[in-house]
Amino acid sequence: MDTLKVLDKTFVSFIPHLKIQETIAKMAADLDRDMFDDDPLFLAVLNGSFIFAADLFKQIKMPARISFVKMASYMGTGSSGKVDQLIGLQEVITGKNIVIIEDIIDTGLTLTKLLDHLDGMRPASVKIVTLLYKPDAFKANFKIDYIGIEIPNNFVVGYGLDYNGYGRNSKDIYTL
Ligand code: IMP
Repeated sequence: MDTLKVLDKTFVSFIPHLKIQETIAKMAADLDRDMFDDDPLFLAVLNGSFIFAADLFKQIKMPARISFVKMASYMGTGSSGKVDQLIGLQEVITGKNIVIIEDIIDTGLTLTKLLDHLDGMRPASVKIVTLLYKPDAFKANFKIDYIGIEIPNNFVVGYGLDYNGYGRNSKDIYTL
């Protein structure tokens, strides 16, 4: 079986590149069908989603923009501890149709924070696209509009997803 060694761990092949590309083609067609006249602004969540975002965006035919954002957390000066910050966003969100691009939704915590930030900017609509989704790990209560592939609650790497920063540069997705 095809394996991938990343740092101290050996991963086994899980989702081949061809299957990923077929999934993305279908997602792009669904987005074009649903949003063609909506002038959407895609927001890809860094770091993991950069490869998926590039492949998805290439397949989309409607007029659309894309920008890259990141959720960062830092120690605030108050008593509440960590403060979440949305970085990288320079476009006007108010009144716009936003599509968030994620590589994987696990617990949903990261996206819950991002959605909180975006809601305050009063977009016209917010939709969520994710390549991978772990239903058994999901603890949030937002709706995911477009899901590529549902996977079991196991760690995966490749195609932008990392293990301690490594493994992103694999065309296929591997699992433990
Ligand atoms: P969540 O906040 O638990 O939904 O996790 C979201 C983020 O955790 C993703 O954007 C990934 O960066 C990372 N993540 C979650 N599961 C995995 C995995 O199996 N492999 C690599 N990264 C993961």
